Amino acid sequence: MLLAEMEKLFTTLYGHGEKPRLFFAPGRVNLIGEHIDYNGGYVFPAALELGNYVYVRSNGTNTVRLAAEDLPGTMVTCDLDALESKKGRDWGAYQLGVFFELQKEGRVLPGADFLYFSNLPFGAGLSSSASIEVATAFAMLGLLGETPDRRAVSLLCQRAENLFVGVNCGIMDQYACANGEEGCAMLLDCAKVESVQVPLPLDGYVMVIGNTNKKRSLADSKYNERRAECDAALAALSEGKPGLSALCELTEEEFAALSDKITDETVRRRASHAVSENARVLASVEALKNRDLAAFGRLLNESHFSLRDLYEVTGFELDTMTELARGQEGCIGSRMTGAGFGGCTISIVKEECVAEFTEKVGAAYKEKTGLAADFYISKAGKGACEL
Ligand code: GLA
Repeated sequence: MLLAEMEKLFTTLYGHGEKPRLFFAPGRVNLIGEHIDYNGGYVFPAALELGNYVYVRSNGTNTVRLAAEDLPGTMVTCDLDALESKKGRDWGAYQLGVFFELQKEGRVLPGADFLYFSNLPFGAGLSSSASIEVATAFAMLGLLGETPDRRAVSLLCQRAENLFVGVNCGIMDQYACANGEEGCAMLLDCAKVESVQVPLPLDGYVMVIGNTNKKRSLADSKYNERRAECDAALAALSEGKPGLSALCELTEEEFAALSDKITDETVRRRASHAVSENARVLASVEALKNRDLAAFGRLLNESHFSLRDLYEVTGFELDTMTELARGQEGCIGSRMTGAGFGGCTISIVKEECVAEFTEKVGAAYKEKTGLAADFYISKAGKGACEL
């Protein structure tokens, strides 16, 4: 993907004029802390070096036009006074939802032309949607001459996805795409929406992302069902602890003492995952600070087992790939990452073993599932920016 070619495509689509500006927002990988952002927990994501790029230029009208390099012939055009009519899950709704939320805060947006291109796999659990939203917000704020407040942009993009697209996601993805720092993961307190950057001294190990290529879609998955089960757990536990406002406010000991308030066994297992996962996140950050990578790897494995057995969001492909990964030399931990039900895994692998790791896991995974896996080696990258 050459920038010069993209700029040429921009001109082909939108005509000659001022040089378009270029913005970027990364995807993210979550190291640990899964399905607890919406339970007031701690999560530990990192921005990737892969992401979405967007060229943008004002067009002097009251219309926005959106095109993508990999969707030839599909141009979404919308009058800025009529954004609300385009609510839904089509490509384009993510960007229009961001414009709508920007308007709701009182901004008068300029008509503009956008061209998107990406090196991030779509629908693979690496937050391609959040990356598009955040890149769009940065681009539009750039046209308005505003310096983006990264926390506010994250929350705005989450609202766009919740209210305009209709996917009830938590704050993790948008926050990670907006706030990444090179070489760091973020310990994000989702109750306060505040984070600290934690350097990733992986001491000779790298993050290997494995794409199961089992497509998943947040909207079609059981994501909302899990959220409802967590709400039910919270309501039951609040009877024993009035004022409890999120599952992750409970320590594991407190949960053990209260858990019989939850009568539904499935709901109890969901809550048990949330509470224990939160403890694992904090233990992981401690392990990294102590340069105890073996402990960090064990916590990743335990996270996967909890997501498989208690939260039930893994499935055959994710279980198979992570199990194969754990059996390889140099791999100290492996788990699913993101919402689950397909998508990607993250494994921590000794640098010199990576080539053999991807070859062996890829071959065995193909044999067991019939699917060809993809692997990405990405360092923790920077958050959204203008290039
Ligand atoms: C998706 C959602 C996030 C988070 C994860 C699971 O990526 O967008 O908010 O809930 O699933 O950890």
